[in-house]
Amino acid sequence: MKMRRLAFAALLVPTLAYAWPWSQDMMDQPSVKPQEPVRDGKMMAFPHRSVPVQGIPTQVADREAAKTLANPVPATPESIHEGRTLFRIVCAACHGLTGLADSPVSDKIGAIPLNDDYVQKQLTEGWIFGTITFGGAIMPPYGVPGGKTGSNDLSVEERWHVVNYVRHALIKEPVAPATQQAKTP
Ligand code: HEC
Repeated sequence: MKMRRLAFAALLVPTLAYAWPWSQDMMDQPSVKPQEPVRDGKMMAFPHRSVPVQGIPTQVADREAAKTLANPVPATPESIHEGRTLFRIVCAACHGLTGLADSPVSDKIGAIPLNDDYVQKQLTEGWIFGTITFGGAIMPPYGVPGGKTGSNDLSVEERWHVVNYVRHALIKEPVAPATQQAKTP
């Protein structure tokens, strides 16, 4: 009886242990895993006619090509709210909390105000999306990895949320008294 119990206990042991040499067998196979770089550190192109299961496909070659893109994300209160959060995390450091180019580094880096007619009326939403994606002359990119300053910190959808916020709500932000004070010498 005792022996049987022992044998039974012994049977349980391997199930509690993990990382046996063979427990990776099913994973280590020649097939290409999702997101796995195959050539020069680049991800494999998706098979022809693949459909994204989430997110929205907006692929452009450069900022110039983004100029005429139509904004696929409706400027709903939710989108604007999301854009506001992201703006405060990513853009405010250079462009100021309310886009007035009044952050401590705005002048030093040459960041322009985002609440004047140039950005609010003259630029297309696609161009602003392109600027966030590819960066500007000095501004770093937030939608392409690589290079010295490149990053893909913002997904396609997040970039459009930021565009929605910049164009629909930025100029309505009350200017914080502290920000005004910071401007006066
Ligand atoms: C590291 C500083 C920095 C950050 C962060 C930054 N910008 Fe900029 N941005 C700049 C500078 C500098 C310029 C002007 C020169 C240039 O085009 O690079 C600029 C220019 C722009 C322009 C005008 C482009 C044009 O055609 O003249 C827009 C629009 C803009 N930024 C939006 C944003 C948004 C939205 C974010 C957040 C996702 C952001 N920026 C984050 C530094 C920054």
